[in-house]
Amino acid sequence: MVVWSPFRFNCGREMANRLAIAPLTTNASNDDGTATEGELEFVRRRSANGFGASISSAAYVDENGRSWLGIGAAHDGHVSSLGQLAEALRASQGLAILQIYDGGRIAKPELIGEHCLRAPSAVASLRPGAKTPRAMTAAEIEALIASFGKAASLARKAGFDGVEIHGANHYAVHQFFSPRANHRDDHWGGTLAKRMNFALAVAQAVRDAVGPKMIAGFRVTPFEAESDGYALEDSKLLCNELAKLKLDYISISLDDYRMSRPTSETRDYKTPIAQRHAPTVSPITEISRVIAGRCAVMASGGIRTCADAEGAIELGADLIAVGRAVVVDPEWLSKIRSNREASILPGLPNDENEIAKALSIPPRMVEYLLSRPGWIPRL
Ligand SMILES: Cc1cc2nc3c(=O)[nH]c(=O)nc-3n(C[C@H](O)[C@H](O)[C@H](O)COP(=O)(O)O)c2cc1C
Repeated sequence: MVVWSPFRFNCGREMANRLAIAPLTTNASNDDGTATEGELEFVRRRSANGFGASISSAAYVDENGRSWLGIGAAHDGHVSSLGQLAEALRASQGLAILQIYDGGRIAKPELIGEHCLRAPSAVASLRPGAKTPRAMTAAEIEALIASFGKAASLARKAGFDGVEIHGANHYAVHQFFSPRANHRDDHWGGTLAKRMNFALAVAQAVRDAVGPKMIAGFRVTPFEAESDGYALEDSKLLCNELAKLKLDYISISLDDYRMSRPTSETRDYKTPIAQRHAPTVSPITEISRVIAGRCAVMASGGIRTCADAEGAIELGADLIAVGRAVVVDPEWLSKIRSNREASILPGLPNDENEIAKALSIPPRMVEYLLSRPGWIPRL
């Protein structure tokens, strides 16, 4: 099976198999952006199963872009904690990749102060209760790009094998690409080509900071659900430009890898995906065709079995990222590797204390997981 075969990135680093732990925010870091022992244990236990790579939860690159109580990669004071995280992610010798992000208009006002909310344009997100951000100045945009570069150099110092830019899921990099969030008419917006400029500048800054021998990846939402959002054809153009920057992989963020349509910004976690989306064309296949082997394509969403992983590979992916399955069952990978799929835990136990203890999930993460009914399966 392809899933157990090794994979070599453009930069030369190798994954022992095609499976990676997807980025999973724990919402359980210290106020100063250092990792808590609880979240290190969450990561260590899951990574110890032999994943080819483990991607970290998203680390903020700038204090004013924090969207939750997560880890930071914003200044030299974060390096030692990032080093501990890299070690935990490498618990069974897999590659350790740091995901970096900025929240833009969906940063959390309670964490950063409402007056600090800034984004490509002064347009509020569709999320309930969202505040209207202030439009960033050109100087602030340049500074934010530099912060992504700085975060990548901190990752290198901390011993990571690579960095993944969070360009998906409605955070700042996605916002710059979205015609719904970006109404600018300068170098950073106005046309499709200009809306790509921020993502491309961030990707270049990250590549420059890590050099040619570390992994540089980019996570993309392949299209927006809203009728005035960007389409798959647009993100294919973006992926084509990103591939020219000699990235190591493009990761496609979907709720379910079989999905042909995106999830809306105001997603309802209760309705099963299958009831909302009829298959037409696979974004994994479409983007893989555009990339045409210039870098790896990583797929994610709804991978629960080995057959799912092989299914996503058949659609065109080289690599597979697994999220909720390893939240619910920390030993998921060991079980699928030894043909014990029947013993995979199908959902979180009902008792919250048991979730925390039995599954090594920090209590604040348990609260976060349960705050969106339907998001994570329950027993
Ligand atoms: C608890 C939780 C936290 C997440 N945090 C992140 C994150 O920090 N960055 C990111 O790109 N995606 C994040 N995601 C999305 C996952 O990486 C993944 O793409 C998504 O859950 C779909 O894959 P799955 O069905 O295997 O979970 C998170 C998902 C969950 C369940």
